[in-house]
Amino acid sequence: MAPKVVLVTGCSTGIGLYTALLLASDKEKRFKVYATLRNLAKKGELEEKGKDFLGDTLIIKAMDVCSDESVDGVVQDLLSTHERIDILINNAGVGLLGPLETQTMEVSRSVFETNFFGVLRLTKAVLPCMKSKRDGHIICVTSVGGISGVPFNGVYCASKFAVEGLVESLAPMLKTFNVKCSLIEPGPVATSFGANLRRVDKEADSPPIDDETKQLLENLTKKISTAFTTVVQTPDEVAQVIQEAILAEQPHLRYQTNKNYAAATAAKLTDPTGDKPIELMHQRYFS
Ligand SMILES: NC(=O)c1ccc[n+]([C@@H]2O[C@H](COP(=O)([O-])OP(=O)(O)OC[C@H]3O[C@@H](n4cnc5c(N)ncnc54)[C@H](OP(=O)(O)O)[C@@H]3O)[C@@H](O)[C@H]2O)c1
Repeated sequence: MAPKVVLVTGCSTGIGLYTALLLASDKEKRFKVYATLRNLAKKGELEEKGKDFLGDTLIIKAMDVCSDESVDGVVQDLLSTHERIDILINNAGVGLLGPLETQTMEVSRSVFETNFFGVLRLTKAVLPCMKSKRDGHIICVTSVGGISGVPFNGVYCASKFAVEGLVESLAPMLKTFNVKCSLIEPGPVATSFGANLRRVDKEADSPPIDDETKQLLENLTKKISTAFTTVVQTPDEVAQVIQEAILAEQPHLRYQTNKNYAAATAAKLTDPTGDKPIELMHQRYFS
């Protein structure tokens, strides 16, 4: 059988890089992986780690998920070579942490531009082909923060909620076309995400914040730092969950990769009043 054509976004580091490598290294060569990154100058790690499959099951391409031109160029290129894209992995994403009042509209929009509109752009680009072939799988890496809001992560969580809403809305209709949808919802993962996280409140021209908010933010960042040492996963562990979703005959809509967040997720999904998840989140970070 011809290998499945897989398009992955955000492969310079982290989850995208390890997902591309895991699929490209498949012993049965079931996948031809197009690993994309917005800046080809950052392809070194992927090239080095994937050198055994490069040009065979692993192809590296430039793609910025925020650019129509860039996305259309890559999608058209793949369609003219293979006439299909079987699996789309929307992985590229950026973080934003801090008090809302320090974050300009422009900064907030830029998070949505990557995390939501990037996903929307790619999804729209592959849909006609997947629907006409009556086959395909759209996978989006969201977060546990795409299920439950996390204090001081409001805009980031909102962007992930938006993806969850988009995919939940598409999935029932796409079922008719045999196009599957899956949301991958990690907790903390040891990647460059933390280092790339935007902290406007730490920038020189940030508006001042009151002492009480500062204290709450400090409590939260301490707990988040602890989580990044105690319950953290490797990007490869998340890549394995993505592979599990791809290989499943009937993939789930949701995959939570980290069992430490099961209580928070269950609270959101089972308490129709919404009170329990707020209480749990308050206990986790501020008491
Ligand atoms: N790490 C965590 O704790 C965690 C937890 C839950 C969910 N997630 C989600 O997991 C996904 C992957 O993140 P990660 O942890 O692997 O972080 P990462 O190491 O920072 O990787 C993010 C990737 O997205 C790329 N990217 C950003 N903007 C882009 C754009 N406009 N076009 C194309 N690529 C772009 C980055 O490229 P550059 O190198 O050029 O910046 C990088 O390759 C994200 O969606 C994130 O929200 C992460």
